[in-house]
Amino acid sequence: MMNKPNQSPMTAASLKSDVSGRVEALLERMSLDEKIGQLTQAGGADWVAGPNIEDVIRKGGAGSVLWLNDTRRFNELQKVAVEESPSGIPLLFALDVIHGYRTIFPVPLAMAASWDPAVAEQAQAVAAGEARAAGIHWTFGPMLDIARDARWGRIVEGAGEDPYLGAAMAAAQVRGFQGDDLADPERVLACAKHFAGYGASEGGRDYDPVYLSESQLRNVYFPPFLAAVKAGAKTFMSAYMDLNDVPASGSRWLLRDVLREEWGFEGFVVSDAFAVGSLEIQGHARDPRDAARRALKAGLNVDMASSTYLGNLSKLVEDGSLSETEIDELVRPILATKIQMGLFERPYVDETLLEQVVARPEQRQAARLAAQRSMVLLRNEGGLLPLAKDQQNIAVIGPLADSKVATEGSWMVFGHKPAAITVLEGIRARLPGATITYAPGPEIHRDIPHPFGEFDLIEKKPIQTSEDAEAAFQTALETAQGADLVILVLGENADMSGEFASRGSLDLPGRQEELLKAISAMGKPVVLVLLNGRPLSINWAAENVPAILEAWEPGTEGGHAVADVLFGDVNPGGKLPVCFPRSGSHAPLYYARTLTHLPESSPRYQSRYWDSPTTPLYPFGYGLSYTTFAITDLALSASPISVGQTVNVTVSVTNTGPMAGDEVVQLYIHQQWGSDSRPMRELKGFRRVTLQPGETQPVQFTLGPDELRYWSTNAQGWVQDAAAFDIWVGADSLASLHAELKVVQ
Ligand code: NOJ
Repeated sequence: MMNKPNQSPMTAASLKSDVSGRVEALLERMSLDEKIGQLTQAGGADWVAGPNIEDVIRKGGAGSVLWLNDTRRFNELQKVAVEESPSGIPLLFALDVIHGYRTIFPVPLAMAASWDPAVAEQAQAVAAGEARAAGIHWTFGPMLDIARDARWGRIVEGAGEDPYLGAAMAAAQVRGFQGDDLADPERVLACAKHFAGYGASEGGRDYDPVYLSESQLRNVYFPPFLAAVKAGAKTFMSAYMDLNDVPASGSRWLLRDVLREEWGFEGFVVSDAFAVGSLEIQGHARDPRDAARRALKAGLNVDMASSTYLGNLSKLVEDGSLSETEIDELVRPILATKIQMGLFERPYVDETLLEQVVARPEQRQAARLAAQRSMVLLRNEGGLLPLAKDQQNIAVIGPLADSKVATEGSWMVFGHKPAAITVLEGIRARLPGATITYAPGPEIHRDIPHPFGEFDLIEKKPIQTSEDAEAAFQTALETAQGADLVILVLGENADMSGEFASRGSLDLPGRQEELLKAISAMGKPVVLVLLNGRPLSINWAAENVPAILEAWEPGTEGGHAVADVLFGDVNPGGKLPVCFPRSGSHAPLYYARTLTHLPESSPRYQSRYWDSPTTPLYPFGYGLSYTTFAITDLALSASPISVGQTVNVTVSVTNTGPMAGDEVVQLYIHQQWGSDSRPMRELKGFRRVTLQPGETQPVQFTLGPDELRYWSTNAQGWVQDAAAFDIWVGADSLASLHAELKVVQ
């Protein structure tokens, strides 16, 4: 448990011994079967096969329940656990609350685009408050997988391609979900997932194997997870896939050596869904019994939904393959957490609470602010944006323009009915006196349906026929023709990113680009608003559409927030947390690559491919504003410094344009030589600042051992080299303001 800052060490220590005393007392009276129950997470949804859940709970056969989202039912099941099971241990109710429970915030990738960890912290605090009021104790978030391949659907759930930004967002989300006291009745347990490497699945194909060197893992993929541990994350989820030929859920190296031994994690690890049973399917375990043994030996506490522990652990103890001591070790942190949360004293939820919490107006304000701060202005030729508020005749066109589902985006809470303000609604609310016409154009859909489609409440319609699509196309053209200005809302539907939502192409799906081209050809001002959960290769738009706003999947208040930005009440200041490749076939693409013998700066270099430039369409860290900024006066407090010392890096940032706005000042380093080759650029600091026109602010960063060391393949350990470093500070990953730092022994 995290101590409150004002708690004396004595009190913390006695609290800890009190908790462990209670844990030991419980363990003493629990049967082996009950202990195994604590290691078992039962699926509470109707579609989960298996014995009646109440019977399982009554026998003490489950310590937690997932995939249930029903406050009254939570209390019913809790009553069975507390009053009828042998030791009366309360259940934990767990659910994926990824970017909001009822008040939906922008998807995590969007929140990372705010480059403002306070946005993510606030969002998850609101999500926690609502979820807890509904009776949920534990969310399966934040998702901390670094994703450098935009084809991978789950890129939407994380903070993008960068470990430094990812770590900042990880810590913020853990603080938001969990707070600093597990007994806080408005917070939930956080779960750092998916440990580890899931974002690097080969070809961006979901669940496919991952091969990552130890240096990539430790320098790139682990930092958000370590940040989560440091922020106090109480639980971790092991990933599905094979990492270097060992399923992550059976990896002793990941779960024991790194997570517990090195990082000192004291919480508990849950598998991803059915992943213990899947050790057999993945060709690692001989049979379910072997799977249970391997996962337990690896240090995996909770078997999510596969019942493999439930069906096999006691036999493994009986035949001596496992000892009860090994089981106890994994049960302890679960019991300790339930005690620390106060569940033994307060197992039930007040069934009237949720509606009171949801009604708090500040929650929607927070969602609107988060959406505003997440938006990235990708293009604004001729200052088309912001639009004048006296526009009289606007056409809003596109399959996503009035879609609540697409506006809320990927990873909807089970049972949630989307209720977002759409872009169309937001624009209509903003300009009540204007003529706002609307046409969706042809619908978009996945070519291969989503296998989890049956679990959500999204209305399933038959796929539009090509005749109907053509009619919709023509209506959209006519609608655009009748307007003075066209706002196209294009991108991807909610089921096009997320789990099991990888794709080979990053182009706009369906006939959207064709529609964009046809409307652009009319010669009217065109604004493109993108709703999507991954980078898209909008090459044509980037050259031909004057104004492009990346609005992501902005959540409940999304339509209002889009209108706020389009009509200039809010000046966009988000920056891309991932680069946008020009083609799906360029993935994986990211800025922090190492140099080659023919670097990009070489006069002979043109492109790594002969058929297209390999530079991204938009680089990492990129985003425009309605105003302009100058970043100047880069200075180091010292150079050379010795290994182990720190240096301050300062710049001045000035708003040189006509309106107030935000700039995200970014610091990148490059170590010029060393034990290993180091990336040509690495983000090591950022700050989002708000400046009035003409205002200048100093921004200071610190570079010390934490920023300058890395895990070296050659040295097989952490090193900080004496070397020269390029330092760049600027407004994106192409920043050119440069200084050199020397680090000596
Ligand atoms: C599978 C997903 O990979 C994971 O992220 C999620 O938390 C679990 N299912 C539970 O729904």
